[in-house]
Amino acid sequence: MKSLTFVVLLCLGCGLMTSSFVLELPHMWSKLILTHHWPSTFCSMEHCHSKFDYWTLHGLWPDKGQECNSSLHFNETLIQDLLPEMQKWWPDLKIPESSRFWKYEWQKHGTCAAKAESLNSQHKYFGKALELYHKLDLDGVMKKCNIVPSETYYTFDLIEGNILNFYNVKPKIQCIHPKEGKVQILGQIEICFNSDFQLDNCEHSETDTVNLNVKGAGFSVCDHATPVYYPPLKGKLLV
Ligand SMILES: *[C@@H]1O[C@H](CO)[C@@H](O)[C@H](O)[C@H]1NC(C)=O
Ligand SMILES: *[C@@H]1O[C@H](CO)[C@@H](O)[C@H](O)[C@H]1NC(C)=O
Repeated sequence: MKSLTFVVLLCLGCGLMTSSFVLELPHMWSKLILTHHWPSTFCSMEHCHSKFDYWTLHGLWPDKGQECNSSLHFNETLIQDLLPEMQKWWPDLKIPESSRFWKYEWQKHGTCAAKAESLNSQHKYFGKALELYHKLDLDGVMKKCNIVPSETYYTFDLIEGNILNFYNVKPKIQCIHPKEGKVQILGQIEICFNSDFQLDNCEHSETDTVNLNVKGAGFSVCDHATPVYYPPLKGKLLV
């Protein structure tokens, strides 16, 4: 009888340990991906008209999880003080002046980022994304490196090399690949951070999966051998 009780208790103990392990650790993210997109490229794909000639924010994405908590409803009132900045640096390129894009990003990625105390409110999440975006100053860095929108093409290695040299971490750079295949169009640049918000290398495999799930986005990792078009605001349309 004694040994039976012992076995039962032991199993209960195992069960508890297993379930808490499954519920917590594997769902916690370890990296954040700060994604910028180039409005001219995005709009050539999505048929919008962008007035933005700088890299705008696409999102701040944890490396694990999507739509983690449907009870955390997006509420613009909570980020009222951030809205002027959001409109400037994190605009909805398809529907200007709307908050639809932020709601989408919050529900899909923010509710997962919110598992960490450092990002567990809408104000913390959007505020941190803006802070990291400004800290990186990708637009300024590109200009400093003389990589500017142009009708002539760049080599991919020049773009990647300059970004890598500047931040000293591996970025992930994505392009759209028009069917003709002679040129690829620079579209999205991801820079990664660890959970302490320090720069970190981007992992290609994990984030690729994240991006495959972005419906309608034709971005994929740029190819090393194909010339890169970095389209000016009113550049030629290749797609
Ligand atoms: C979702 O968010 C609510 C409100 O903060 C919280 O009480 C709940 O535990 C969260 N659920 C999950 C699965 O994280
Ligand atoms: C949004 O947040 C504000 C401020 O906390 C609150 O007063 C309001 O009720 C919230 N709106 C919704 C729809 O939850």
